[in-house]
Amino acid sequence: MRHETVFVVDFGAQYAQLIARRVREANVYCQVVPFGKLLEAARAEKPKALIFSGGPASVYGDKAPHLDKAVFDLGIPILGICYGIQFTAWALGGKVERQDEREYGQAVIDIVEPNELLADVGERTEVWMSHGDALTGLPPGFRVLAKTKSCPFAAIGDPKRKIYGVQFHPEVTHTPKGRIVLRNFLYSIAGLSGDWKMADFIEEQRRLIKERVGNDRVILGLSGGVDSSVAAVLIHEAIGSQLQCIFVNNALLRKNESQLVAKTFRGHYRIPLEVVDASERFLQALDGVVDPEEKRKVIGREFVRVFEEEARRVENARFLAQGTLYPDVIESVSAHGGPTATIKSHHNVGGLPKDLGLELLEPLRDLFKDEVRQIGTELGLPEELVWRQPFPGPGLGVRIIGPITAERVKLLQDADEIVQEEIQAAGLYRQLWQAFAVLLPVRSVGVLGDERAYGETIAIRAVESADAMTADWSRLPYDVLARMSTRIMNEIRGINRVVYDISQKPPSTIEWE
Ligand code: XMP
Repeated sequence: MRHETVFVVDFGAQYAQLIARRVREANVYCQVVPFGKLLEAARAEKPKALIFSGGPASVYGDKAPHLDKAVFDLGIPILGICYGIQFTAWALGGKVERQDEREYGQAVIDIVEPNELLADVGERTEVWMSHGDALTGLPPGFRVLAKTKSCPFAAIGDPKRKIYGVQFHPEVTHTPKGRIVLRNFLYSIAGLSGDWKMADFIEEQRRLIKERVGNDRVILGLSGGVDSSVAAVLIHEAIGSQLQCIFVNNALLRKNESQLVAKTFRGHYRIPLEVVDASERFLQALDGVVDPEEKRKVIGREFVRVFEEEARRVENARFLAQGTLYPDVIESVSAHGGPTATIKSHHNVGGLPKDLGLELLEPLRDLFKDEVRQIGTELGLPEELVWRQPFPGPGLGVRIIGPITAERVKLLQDADEIVQEEIQAAGLYRQLWQAFAVLLPVRSVGVLGDERAYGETIAIRAVESADAMTADWSRLPYDVLARMSTRIMNEIRGINRVVYDISQKPPSTIEWE
């Protein structure tokens, strides 16, 4: 089945991704397309509507992203947002000028005349503005739909050609009625029917995977994270026991991780799963390694070796399944207008064997994370898996500073479990991007009973973030911190100091190594 498709045209700096997520939430399938490829892609795929994203450039700038004006003759409804409307207005004969001061923050729009784009948002509504240039003259055929105190052209439209534009950002949560504006455009103006539903997606993938795989077998490396878990269950729905999952215990997992994965997949879903206990091998390879990059390399290398050995045992394997998501494959454009691929710098499975001669099967590669979670929920995956916080491929290896030994792994696992439990108990798990413990290579003096002790130090890290590119340390309530600290020191022998990490990213990173 082919879905009605909308193109979100990327004018730079990944503004387009958030718009795309909002369009998907409105049950409309969409793709992010770099501006340079729009015409070609539109002619080939015939999207039902175009949304031009914002971007950091100025239409008059040297390297400003410009589209061929032929795009306005395709007869496809267009919504321009921020830079998107400035470009549209400028290209169609309007006027855009630099403002003395950049407008940034909350503003209120007043509706100038009733119109389809702003139907149901009320006479006045709050919006989020962020722009340096502004429209100062309407292109022929356009009408003013809304204005703010400082912006006479906050929303404009040419109903005949179905070309609309807003200076504000409907995609951000600071524009409370933004979703209504997007829906108005998609449904009333572009006439879409909303045929993108997760239940249908599951049905469709089931059929596609079955067709493609035939009687062959598929290998999938389970990591315990949400992406590979959802991929596994989805593929299993399609081809049953032709799927073989492999889970590698690298000694650097959270406490009871192996058991949880085995229970969920083998026990509950009856998915063929090989749990490879390679912990000894990893610990040996890591013996004496303290340099963070070296650790990552060793862990990645061992993973590939172990995985490869196991994969070779699976007869008739033709496919290697992966939980790749849409943000990993979007070809985005940079702030300077040039194309840059978004390259995922970390791979959960630690880089994969290339010479196994397997074809890739990536059933989630059109989806955003929120959609993957919806699918996981529909497929009955337990909440603790669906809402899992990210966990790095090299696992606790990058959270044990200094040498990695079985004893130190155990210390960190125990401390981490307490952090997880207390965050869950306080009802904070979902609002935090990540919360975890780090074992430091620092000993300090304490007292244990009447004795002088010389114990290890645990750092607690809890961050809030939208996408891990930037992050802020969470202002956790003191009593939550107090419970974690008391429990860690009381319950874990050998730890007599707990500290809280109050570093922002940047300049810090979320992980310590
Ligand atoms: P940093 O530490 O770079 O982390 O701020 C950003 C996000 O990426 C996760 N991370 C990894 N994920 N393999 C992964 O799959 C890795 O090697 C890796 N290193 C960091 C980290 O947990 C955070 O969410």
